[in-house]
Amino acid sequence: MMNPETRRPLVAGNWKMHEGLAEAEALVRSLLAGLPATPAAEVLVLPPFTALETVHRLIGSDTRLRLGAQNCHWETAGAFTGEISTAMLEPWCTYVLVGHSERRQLFGETDEIVRRKLDAVLAAGMRPILALGETEAERERGQTQAVLLRQARSGLVGLSVDQVSRCTIAYEPIWAIGTGAAATPADASEAAAVLRSVVDEAAGREQPTVRILYGGSVTAASAASLLHAPGVDGALVGGASLRAAEFCAIVAGAGA
Ligand code: PGA
Repeated sequence: MMNPETRRPLVAGNWKMHEGLAEAEALVRSLLAGLPATPAAEVLVLPPFTALETVHRLIGSDTRLRLGAQNCHWETAGAFTGEISTAMLEPWCTYVLVGHSERRQLFGETDEIVRRKLDAVLAAGMRPILALGETEAERERGQTQAVLLRQARSGLVGLSVDQVSRCTIAYEPIWAIGTGAAATPADASEAAAVLRSVVDEAAGREQPTVRILYGGSVTAASAASLLHAPGVDGALVGGASLRAAEFCAIVAGAGA
């Protein structure tokens, strides 16, 4: 492993808008059956809101699987039709994903909105996973580093050292999400180094506990090389997280 022992890898499954209650229940049962007694990574699932209670109940006291949400609103309550607050998620969730590129691109979330959400997650005592990444056009124009610096600084600068230490960053190049074309381990490492510099800048000193994940077309086949890329501390998995055997194989790849 290239990373310090202080950072246990995190493998997170983003189910997106998939899995009704029956499917969610079947998937979690398969995951609990398929994971080893002591997985090589911390394992997290991010189901739709409607499945949180069910998945929480199925996990029970099993520490091999953690639960998180895919999104939240930044206010604790109010007239925000269709939204969900961190106070509503907190009974079920350890983590909340903020800033996924689908939220940014399809639902108009700006860096400022993402930061408000991240602050709300921290205020509720949960752990934010800040997702960010460049578009294909930005990469082609040579703007990858500038985009990552902007998004990461917007998410982290001004937080206390303790708050930064509770954050995880997920580097997800938009051109790699759902396309089958994952970034190379070298690309992932390069981005992780840029993001690590922002973690250090924001915390004012090294925060070795902050994990930097890679996401975008991670499969069982690509997981081991991406998860062992220097500076990469885990994976955020979309499509492959809906297939229990493949997701378990990705988790196994984190320790191989
Ligand atoms: P993918 O999605 O693994 O299906 O590319 C990743 C994500 O959007 O988090």
